Amino acid sequence: MKGFTLWFTGLSGSGKTTLARQVEDIMRERGLKVEVLDGDVIRTNLSKGLGFSKEDRDENIKRIGFVCQLLSRNGVASIASAISPYREIRDMNRDKIDNFVEVYCKCPLEVLTDRDVKGLYAKALAGEIKGFTGVDDPYEEPLNPEILVETDKESEEESVQKIIRTLELMGLVPGADASQDFSDEEEEKIKQRLKDLGYL
Ligand code: ADX
Repeated sequence: MKGFTLWFTGLSGSGKTTLARQVEDIMRERGLKVEVLDGDVIRTNLSKGLGFSKEDRDENIKRIGFVCQLLSRNGVASIASAISPYREIRDMNRDKIDNFVEVYCKCPLEVLTDRDVKGLYAKALAGEIKGFTGVDDPYEEPLNPEILVETDKESEEESVQKIIRTLELMGLVPGADASQDFSDEEEEKIKQRLKDLGYL
């Protein structure tokens, strides 16, 4: 199989890591070599010592992109999951990496601050953490992501299926033996998006 990079971007708590891990399991079941590069994990090793200034975030995203590039060109399905708030750096990675597929995990800030799984939004809103993405630091939405998942509206299962089906249609992930429970309407939407982006 061809290597590729599946790049999850979105605000903290928007579902990037959860979806990345589920997609990882399915890809493995289908015989792909997979590696996940998760922002939280990468910041404990490869990007240890980097903070959250624009400069440091850009450096973090470039490093993750560099590793994805190496893995992808050796046939690995690389999954990156990091806020990656700046469009320019995401697009720089897109330019460097063959078969770069962007997944935008979209979720309104109100929902994220309500959920606040890590308790960080409460701290950011109270001014205890400065420069928190979405609160007092920018997040630049992707303009044309290959995949848009709206994690406040879709179930986890729906988002995962949308991602996998898109990758199947792009010829990057082999199809499952068992047929999937997927509506014609969803299938059409995915195909239309890929056509609009020039893939089909
Ligand atoms: S990125 O901006 O460089 O892409 P990355 O995904 O690696 O960010 O790390 C984000 C995680 O760091 C968040 O999920 C959160 O747990 C933690 N974090 C700590 N401080 C901040 C901050 N100021 N802004 C965003 N996330 C932060």
